[in-house]
Amino acid sequence: MNVRSLRFRMTAWYAGLLLCALLMFGVSVYLGLERYLNWTFQSMLVSECRTIGTELLAQLPAKRAGWLAAEVNEAYAPEVNGRFIRVYRDGTGIVYLSGTPKDGAFEPSEIPFPQGNQRDGVRRIHLKDGRQLLTQAMTFTTPDGSHFLVESGTPYQQIQIVLHGLLLTLAIYTPFIVSLAIAGGYWLMRRSLQPVDEITERAEGITSSNLSERLPTIRTGDELERLSTALNRMIGRLDDAFQHINRFSADASHELRTPLTILQLELEGIVHNYPLSESLENQIGSALEETHRMSRIVESLLTISRLDAGEVKLDRLPLDLSELITRTAGEMNVLAQEKSIALCTSVEAGISLDGDRTHLQQVIVNLIDNAIKYTQVGGTIHVSLYLEGGKIIVAVSDNGAGIPAQALPHVFERFYRADKARSRASGGAGLGLSIVKAICTAHSAGIYVTSEEGLGSRFRVEFPTISASHTANCAS
Ligand SMILES: Nc1ncnc2c1ncn2[C@@H]1O[C@H](COP(=O)(O)OP(=O)(O)OP(=O)(O)O)[C@@H](O)[C@H]1O
Ligand SMILES: [Mg+2]
Repeated sequence: MNVRSLRFRMTAWYAGLLLCALLMFGVSVYLGLERYLNWTFQSMLVSECRTIGTELLAQLPAKRAGWLAAEVNEAYAPEVNGRFIRVYRDGTGIVYLSGTPKDGAFEPSEIPFPQGNQRDGVRRIHLKDGRQLLTQAMTFTTPDGSHFLVESGTPYQQIQIVLHGLLLTLAIYTPFIVSLAIAGGYWLMRRSLQPVDEITERAEGITSSNLSERLPTIRTGDELERLSTALNRMIGRLDDAFQHINRFSADASHELRTPLTILQLELEGIVHNYPLSESLENQIGSALEETHRMSRIVESLLTISRLDAGEVKLDRLPLDLSELITRTAGEMNVLAQEKSIALCTSVEAGISLDGDRTHLQQVIVNLIDNAIKYTQVGGTIHVSLYLEGGKIIVAVSDNGAGIPAQALPHVFERFYRADKARSRASGGAGLGLSIVKAICTAHSAGIYVTSEEGLGSRFRVEFPTISASHTANCAS
């Protein structure tokens, strides 16, 4: 469990606060109930003492012996109700003492007499077995001048039973309620953070190629909504910036095209129309070669920028990919033969898709061109087309120089060349694979590369869906 996560911290705070609130509630209920029960029992005891002291004791001189005991027993049944009642006359001694209660909770004869100001007040007497007796004492003076002390008591246990019951209820329900709150809080946090998960997932999928997409806006009217809106605005600004850069590259490449063509024509004109010394002709020849190279780079840049900017309108028509690959590989076989490289094809017949013929041909040309360029004399190249897992796979593999592991993630970047010296010697600018990637993306296809340095490379293009029979051919 991630204790730093918002979900954990919020749930912990929530559960902690709830626990505090429940504890405070429990303590106040406990204290309140204790006060209330004490007050109720005391009122009852006071009222008993008062009844005995005012109504019964006044009649005592006129009554026979035993009358008081009979009256008190009849009115309060102390043994049955577990009560303590004692009437004491100053100078005479105990006039009435209740018997031992049925449950034997206390022994009335052992209850000590109140002293001093306790003679008119409440006491909590601790008995031997740890129990307590709540007693109320009151003094009375009858009309004949006799002084009485009337005591009434009840076991404190009755209050304790109620309070213990409350404690038990709180002890059982508090952990239960807190656990329920933790589970509920965790689930609620999960639910409320779900939109953030969705945003994160969508944001992960946004790259330079789909900056026009937007994240789902969370309509909560709070920080989450502000976050999603702010992210969307940021993606919008990125989109603008990317489009600006693409526009700039496209415009720059476009503007460079014309002067370059003029330069080439001028240079060719000089070579053809004027008698030149051998060294001057060589110099102009090499300048011409460089302008050709520049033209190729400018063309490639223009293609990539236009594809990125979505300016290229792809004619996505039903296309026999099997035929296109067989034909292109056949045409490129001439180049392979120059290096004595065997160019083998393994193409399932009849595989077609909706695609732009010119651009898809460029994908195949660029991949085979690389394979030829970076494979040593006498090597082998395999071009295959097949269906796998509902996808159309085009694979170009060679047993050439391979690509170093650290260079693999970068080969689709513009102007990236794994071995600068070697590729430049072979005329590469590092744009071929960027074009391939841009075309594949425009066709919703993925492109992947695996390679081992010194053993060869394998480029794999995966188009979504379609059907076939099989033809194989190998030429060198
Ligand atoms: N089949 C391959 N075998 C070995 N290295 C390769 C292969 N294909 C590509 N590479 C490496 O990836 C780099 C980028 O390839 P990319 O096609 O983009 O550029 P390039 O071939 O150098 O130039 P361009 O294609 O623009 O003429 C190459 O410079 C090369 O180092
Ligand atoms: Mg290339």
